[in-house]
Amino acid sequence: MKKKMVKILSKNKKKNSEESFDELSKITENEIAEAIKDIGSKVTEYIDTEKIKSDLKTEYIGKEIYCFHEVDSTNTVAKFLAESGSKEGTVVISEVQTKGRGRHGRKWESPTGGAWLSIVLRPDITPSKAALITLSTGVAVTKTLRKIGVNAKIKWPNDILINNKKVSGILTETNTKFNSVDYVIIGVGIDSNLNIERLPEKLQEGSTSLKNELDAKITETDLISSFLNELEIIYDLFKKEKFDEILSDWRNMSQTIGSYVEIKQAFGKVFNGYAVGINKKGALILELDNGELKKVISGECIIKND
Ligand code: BTN
Repeated sequence: MKKKMVKILSKNKKKNSEESFDELSKITENEIAEAIKDIGSKVTEYIDTEKIKSDLKTEYIGKEIYCFHEVDSTNTVAKFLAESGSKEGTVVISEVQTKGRGRHGRKWESPTGGAWLSIVLRPDITPSKAALITLSTGVAVTKTLRKIGVNAKIKWPNDILINNKKVSGILTETNTKFNSVDYVIIGVGIDSNLNIERLPEKLQEGSTSLKNELDAKITETDLISSFLNELEIIYDLFKKEKFDEILSDWRNMSQTIGSYVEIKQAFGKVFNGYAVGINKKGALILELDNGELKKVISGECIIKND
């Protein structure tokens, strides 16, 4: 059945084609259930889906949860579910990802000991607003971590740091249909109880885990339910277009604003300057060395001083 999922996904590669969406309407709920059953082991070792469900105070996020021991990537499974018609708020969790994906096409190391999850959202927006969903997710992760007692901060665009080391990353994948968003998959990875030594050597120095930063142990089960509760609160603000509230939270918890940064973009473009703000499109506003203000929409951010 995994083959079936791949076949369905590849049929839908032509994202905006009506033809491929027609094909989808022929997939029955039974076929989805069958495909899901066989894509990964659902017998989890330490994540308790029933406890997550009972701790949720949400109206729609997490009403449907698919939890696995191992899948290739929760974003890929969530994409399959979204394309098969799954509702807004559907959540996919896995204890291990064999092909976890990070931003810029990088691999995301996902052994046991992390919270690896993806959420299907179906906002009624134009694609230009999607960046704000990523910022909102960053705010939700940061608030969740602060509530458990660590001083988490956001590094633009969406890395979450504790004491300047990365503890969490977000990968948002948007699927558009004509000029509107069909669905957004938010993928969140939190290094909760991960042994940093299990990461490749070059990542170890810049990474941390909650286990390293906290005295008490936090379980992935509790972490995920708190995060999903926070996410629905902030996503509701997003849906009500209360962007100023979201951005104000983002700025208050940001490590980037007020720092001197270097932004490295594709094709070797580099900008240096003070990060002075962020706008509603998620662009970082830099005051360059020559005093000019520059908006940057994408890139790798290196904080030169705090
Ligand atoms: C980053 O590069 O910082 C983003 C990392 C996002 C990782 C998460 S883990 C759950 C979800 N599934 C994936 O394959 N990636 C995201």
